[in-house]
Amino acid sequence: MSKRRKVIVANWKMNGRLTSGLNLAQEVAARAMEERPLPFDVVLCPPTTLLWPVAETLMGSGVMLGGQDCHYANHGAYTGDISAGMLVDLSCRYVILGHSERRMAYGEDNALIAKKVAAAQLAGLVTVVCVGETLDQRAAGGAEAAIVTQLLESLPDRYHPAQLIVAYEPIWAIGSGQTPEVEEISAVHRKLREALGEAGVAVPIIYGGSVAIGNAGLIMKDPDVDGVLVGAASLSADGFWAIAEKAQ
Ligand code: PGA
Repeated sequence: MSKRRKVIVANWKMNGRLTSGLNLAQEVAARAMEERPLPFDVVLCPPTTLLWPVAETLMGSGVMLGGQDCHYANHGAYTGDISAGMLVDLSCRYVILGHSERRMAYGEDNALIAKKVAAAQLAGLVTVVCVGETLDQRAAGGAEAAIVTQLLESLPDRYHPAQLIVAYEPIWAIGSGQTPEVEEISAVHRKLREALGEAGVAVPIIYGGSVAIGNAGLIMKDPDVDGVLVGAASLSADGFWAIAEKAQ
């Protein structure tokens, strides 16, 4: 069994307005308070507009805060962007980087993500680096090799393993209601850990893509799965907390 603490990350994506987002955060915080000390780590990643109000809501609950992306530069002429230091100002301790939705919609490549990882770690953030294969790669049989390459290229030459979480998110599983078999997830996680070498022993490798109450327990029971990254199902406090509790 792994000694790594399980991590449950909520990726709200572009969902949540001031009232609905705060309600959701309040409900999650209330559940966390009932269970303190938490036997697993919980991180909420709301949209940027909600980071500060959600930070205030989560205070004292043990639930941590993360951004969904950041720029690689500290500051400068980058309209619409947010730096890692700015996320820290907003009480973030985590940031998701290289999510497939950003890779696809904004053409973010591995080299850019590696620069972001370096900047975010320098600012003190834990970086949740997302990797995962397309359906075509899976069908062609080369998924594992492609994912390993993607991970290694998405990391800077020097990184802090203590500030790294890897999220394996098959692109075809995100938002589709489909997931790989647990054995397949487990095999990919082992390959990713192996690719990280000695540093990989302490790095949490979590799974994301259609995680739901019905599959979270089975997925997290696998010793090679150190937690989950939850999208749609994180938008209900009851549902999200039920998933988190499966980490025990
Ligand atoms: P999903 O999203 O849980 O809605 O599939 C996961 C993610 O994109 O991180």
